[in-house]
Amino acid sequence: MTTKRTFTMIKPDAVNNGHTGNVINDILAGGFKIIAMKYLQLTKEQAENFYGVHRERPFFNDLVTFMISGPIVAAILEKENAVEDFRTLIGATNPENAAEGTIRRKYAKSIDANAIHGSDSNENAAIESNFFFSSFERF
Ligand code: CMP
Repeated sequence: MTTKRTFTMIKPDAVNNGHTGNVINDILAGGFKIIAMKYLQLTKEQAENFYGVHRERPFFNDLVTFMISGPIVAAILEKENAVEDFRTLIGATNPENAAEGTIRRKYAKSIDANAIHGSDSNENAAIESNFFFSSFERF
């Protein structure tokens, strides 16, 4: 994984509300290339592992329950400065604080149902990509 890549998930709220196409358009318009993509529903165990770093946080159980409530779209994205630029594109974690025009501002309803995930570091981008995609699926 190079510093040119990040990992994203379009979350169950955005998928259920029919925003998948618009979110993908925003990602492409933001200059990101989609390297890998899959549509799936997480099991409880997978969601608990993916968000393991938050296990002790008070919102952990609600987060896991929400993340397994419907299908998600997982993807690896490529662009110069991918991690930072993608976090700018999606906006603040709480959509109330997200800048105008960002994906969360446009499509998210709450801090839990916040439409999309973006890796917060190059290291986590690699870990999260490997969680969803094997080397056989990547190019
Ligand atoms: P995400 O970027 O996917 O990483 C962890 C998620 O936990 C976050 O988006 C939010 O959807 C959710 N969450 C719920 N409450 C909080 C909180 N108080 N602080 C940070 N994340 C929260």
